[in-house]
Amino acid sequence: MSDSPILATRGLVKRFGGVTAVDGVDLVITAGEIRCLIGPNGAGKSTLFKCLTHQHQPTSGHVLFEGRDLQGLAPNRIARLGIAIKNQIPSIYANLDVRENIRLAALRRKLPKRELDRVVELALEEIGFDDGRAKQLAVTLSHAHRQWCELGMLLASDPRLALLDEPTAGMTRDEMLKTVDIIKRLNARATVIVVEHDLEFIARLAQRVTVLHRGKVLLEDTMDKIEANETVRDIYLGRRKEAIHA
Ligand SMILES: Nc1ncnc2c1ncn2[C@@H]1O[C@H](COP(=O)(O)OP(=O)(O)O)[C@@H](O)[C@H]1O
Ligand SMILES: [Mg+2]
Repeated sequence: MSDSPILATRGLVKRFGGVTAVDGVDLVITAGEIRCLIGPNGAGKSTLFKCLTHQHQPTSGHVLFEGRDLQGLAPNRIARLGIAIKNQIPSIYANLDVRENIRLAALRRKLPKRELDRVVELALEEIGFDDGRAKQLAVTLSHAHRQWCELGMLLASDPRLALLDEPTAGMTRDEMLKTVDIIKRLNARATVIVVEHDLEFIARLAQRVTVLHRGKVLLEDTMDKIEANETVRDIYLGRRKEAIHA
């Protein structure tokens, strides 16, 4: 894939009253990469994601997607341009089954029916759901299966850029490993930015890691370098995982 940036932010700021959640972030994401975004709770990771999709309007600064300034665009317009987000809280229709949820996500592509069917079945295959699982109502899914259902919806919607907010939170190690595989499939077709705490997950996926701290980019490098950085250790990696999640 090309080295051109698919996404760039310039001086992005988001304030909630007196709280500056995102504080002048300049981010450049290359088309095709998987970027991991880490940082302690409250660092502004989720807010940054929501500023990219205009679930939150940035207070100031710019977001450029494929060179185009997104300023003033409504969230559904941004979704149509090809930015998809999986928020920390799952957004699936509880009383539809998995296949129906995935079909709804694929509808935005306006495909002929036969092609739509193919895309839905492919997404089910990519998340490893058999027909029985595909017929299960979303409300009855386990935590991990709900996350995978959402990833299936993302796969079927065929985004250019996928933003994943803590996709493995609350998963066992085996479930995390399966999620790594699904995200690799997603990355074969889309650029991915993922917020994560799990170091093994990050090491298996990300090429570059961006550390966010108090709304600012503290550091950007490979995971090896990040892990060796003393400031990062102090604010983040040195603490016990429980403390980070607290
Ligand atoms: N809707 C909101 N209203 C007010 N403050 C918010 C809102 N969302 C987030 N914040 C605040 O912004 C800061 C960053 O939060 P968040 O982006 O959720 O961090 P992270 O995802 O890195 O844990 C926190 O201080 C949080 O309390
Ligand atoms: Mg968050």
